Amino acid sequence: MRIKELKQVFDEEQIRTRVADLAAEISALYDGEALVAVCVLKGGFMFFSDVIRRLEGPQVEVDFVRLASYGIAATSNRTISFVKDVELSLAGKHVLVVEDIIDTGHTMDFLLRQFAARGAKSLRLAVMVDKQERREVPVNADFTGFALPGGFIVGYGLDYAERYRELPAIFEVIPEY
Ligand code: PRP
Repeated sequence: MRIKELKQVFDEEQIRTRVADLAAEISALYDGEALVAVCVLKGGFMFFSDVIRRLEGPQVEVDFVRLASYGIAATSNRTISFVKDVELSLAGKHVLVVEDIIDTGHTMDFLLRQFAARGAKSLRLAVMVDKQERREVPVNADFTGFALPGGFIVGYGLDYAERYRELPAIFEVIPEY
């Protein structure tokens, strides 16, 4: 795909405001509790670091997973596996998974099922961008930054062929036809 332009969808100020609101909600929910915040690499790194640095109240431990997806994209025949698992035990802990985007839902369906089997006290999901309309398997986020119907987006952790993750805002990729 040749890119014609990157069209801004959410600017830095919108993201900052939304992240602050989510962090306040999360802080209130887990106030005084021990919380394991799990970043889903690579895309989740920027949202994760912005959210956790604003948490006030929970006693936070951080950990990271990286998942790989095999099979044909946009079909249900996808196999997800861990490239890197968390290192902390999740048993008896409140766990918050922090992800950049939910699209078909396959990735989060896999991860939440895996984590649910490890005896966490609670398991919740925070996502920056939720593309509900593209779901192939049901997955619901507990904390959502923005809902978007479609469009290929990059920036704020999200990539196109590993580019644009470092951009501080979120852009839609407009292809050249
Ligand atoms: C992206 C994104 C989610 C997943 C969402 O990850 O970060 O993990 O796809 O898609 P789904 O809901 O259709 O499963 P990707 O595999 O591109 O890895 P990355 O985070 O390293 O870019």
